[in-house]
Amino acid sequence: MSGHRRKSPYLAQGAEDEPLFGFRPRKVTGRQVRKALEHNINPFTKVPHTPRYHEMLEARRKLPVYDQMDEFYKIFNKNQIIIIAGETGAGKTTQIPQLVAYADLPHVNGKLVACTQPRRVAAMSLAKRVADEMDVQLGRHVGYSIRFEDMTEPGTTFLKYMTDGILLREATSDPTLDRYSTIILDEAHERTLATDILMGLLKLLAKKRSDLKIIIMSATLDARKFRNYFGIKKGSSVPLFKVSGRAHPVEVFYTQEPEPDYVEAAIRTVLMVHRAEDPGDVLLFLTGEEEIEEVCKKIKLEVDDLVNQDPDSVGPIVCVPLYASLGPQQQQRIFDPPPKPQRPNGPPGRKVVVSTNIAETSLTIDGIVYVIDPGFWRVSVYNPRLRIESLLVCPISKASAQQRAGRAGRTRPGKCFRLYTEKDFMSELEEQTHPEILRSNLATTVLGMVKAGVRDLVKFDYVDSPAPETLMRALELLNNLAALDDDGNLTPLGSVMAEFPLDPQLSKMLIASPEFRCSNEILTITAMLSVSNVWLLPSNQRREADAAKALVTVPDGDHLTLLNVYNSYIRNKHDEKWARNNFLSARALAEAENVREQLQRIMERYELELTSIADEKMMYNAIRKALCCGFFMQVAHRVGDQGNYLTVKDNQVVSLHPSCGLHPQPEWVIFNEFVLTTRPFIRTVTGVQPKWLLELAHVYFDLATFGDGETKTALKRVLNEKVGTSGRVKRLNKGMKKQC
Ligand code: CDP
Ligand code: MG
Repeated sequence: MSGHRRKSPYLAQGAEDEPLFGFRPRKVTGRQVRKALEHNINPFTKVPHTPRYHEMLEARRKLPVYDQMDEFYKIFNKNQIIIIAGETGAGKTTQIPQLVAYADLPHVNGKLVACTQPRRVAAMSLAKRVADEMDVQLGRHVGYSIRFEDMTEPGTTFLKYMTDGILLREATSDPTLDRYSTIILDEAHERTLATDILMGLLKLLAKKRSDLKIIIMSATLDARKFRNYFGIKKGSSVPLFKVSGRAHPVEVFYTQEPEPDYVEAAIRTVLMVHRAEDPGDVLLFLTGEEEIEEVCKKIKLEVDDLVNQDPDSVGPIVCVPLYASLGPQQQQRIFDPPPKPQRPNGPPGRKVVVSTNIAETSLTIDGIVYVIDPGFWRVSVYNPRLRIESLLVCPISKASAQQRAGRAGRTRPGKCFRLYTEKDFMSELEEQTHPEILRSNLATTVLGMVKAGVRDLVKFDYVDSPAPETLMRALELLNNLAALDDDGNLTPLGSVMAEFPLDPQLSKMLIASPEFRCSNEILTITAMLSVSNVWLLPSNQRREADAAKALVTVPDGDHLTLLNVYNSYIRNKHDEKWARNNFLSARALAEAENVREQLQRIMERYELELTSIADEKMMYNAIRKALCCGFFMQVAHRVGDQGNYLTVKDNQVVSLHPSCGLHPQPEWVIFNEFVLTTRPFIRTVTGVQPKWLLELAHVYFDLATFGDGETKTALKRVLNEKVGTSGRVKRLNKGMKKQC
């Protein structure tokens, strides 16, 4: 960007035929912008618009936001903080950031407009859509940024869709967020942890940066909570810009009796709709990836059967899955048209999108006429007393049920089939979904907040304050990891830990790993732990898959198995079929490779040495010691002869998860995850020696802090052996940076 252009508040003063002629930052009007949108030349690339641009503009003109452009600019030009509320599909997410770009002219002043999304799938998909609408290449003028993937071009990108988590990370290392002219927090009604904390940080920042504009967007018209939160500013209250919806009526049906098996009921209902209802696509809400893939397969099989039996009355069907970890190409399929009839004048085809609650408000899919809502979602719930985070399938709230139903009325009147009784809807469902901050582990967030300069975590201005016990647990964990000192101040170690987009246990382990000369391996293991499941376990080839897994299993620990799998993947990368033949997910492995690269860059930036040991046995021991440095609070000790374990300090009886490959079962183990399904399990488990724990985490394993019991007795026995801690590890435990 040239200095000359940066200085001038007026654009193209002399050239009246320029699309942005007469535009003054934050003083533009709807009339000016409409004219610029109609212009033949793209103001951002300076090349003529493609026919596709004009086609898309035609559709954009029909969105309610487009109609209210004049009103939007009046409010935007005058206010620093704005709340925008409106029905899903009104054009908030795709249009408002573009309108802001025309007002801020970020391409001229070297700034960016940011729009956050709670989900990565939404950030990617919306950036793609908006790049198309603006007739620019994705990743250049319009881009996106999600964890481990940055699709932006510094100096060129001026409109960025990003996950709220990424913006929160940026806010921790650069609390003034200087590169942004306007920040839009979208989907605020979802009340994700990151969006909630960002609201608090931005509220503070607004006082320091009068040039920064903040927009909070919500899909529910009830945005009072946010208005009250941002409150009165300079004598006038924060304005609410309401986008009028154009929703069609949706008829809601309930079941007469509760459904014992919602998955089976869902499949049955899709088939019923497909056979009996008029043309129109279906959206079915389920809870997670495996369930969704399974149901897609079953529906397809059943419908293919029906079509074969009665091709004159049943049309073809396409099932499209939608969940957070989908790749971008697969994700785009939700926007494909329904399948064509198999022959001219045959019965019409239907598209069935089977989705997690991503499709509740984040992504608008046109053409949906039927919604099937079993009434559940999968949510992670943290229990601070037991320090356990579990993924649970829970009933949704009334607010969610209403949003889901609304998806059926986007293009014409629709129907919503709720797979629960009306009585349950009225009496069992909560009014609103609980904000994530009330049910999450806050360790990572607290570390970020401290790094961002928040002095008092209890007095921080939260939209809803977390439970004191949860905050305490987070502080305790960070103190144990030496990221915070005993007074709650950030240590040099904590400061580096906060730079990694990882849970603090993982970042601590990575930073400690050069000490044990196994940082290359720990880097790989961390990457493998950060991606979705690499094992494919198809139910119809279970035995073959198990046999393939046994071949790569390292009996000393699942973490070592992950390392082994990754190394085999790298050795066999030339062979496209290798992953599939070994029942491994090529996509997850490729993602791990990318994550590893990104983490390696951060390691290099902080001069954390990348080393390995050649001897395998020594290497495995080194890795397990490094694991102890991060995960010493997640240790279990074998009890009894049933193969059970007792977690250290929390004294929970747990079993090894069936996926675990440990053999024989060691006396002491470290685990990555505690999962509660039919009973409590520990997953991704590796055997360790108790003397390492005493050496590497002697404060936590101070026997005076243990209650009497088997664990204490066992540890006492070990203490009689000689335990010594190296000076460097001691420094690390005090929160000093490595290269001590
Ligand atoms: O944010 P809000 O729910 O208000 O609406 P939006 O996400 O901006 O979507 C507005 C419209 O853009 C939708 O109704 C779709 O017609 C269209 N759209 C699309 O066709 N493809 C996308 N990937 C995103 C939006
Ligand atoms: Mg939206």
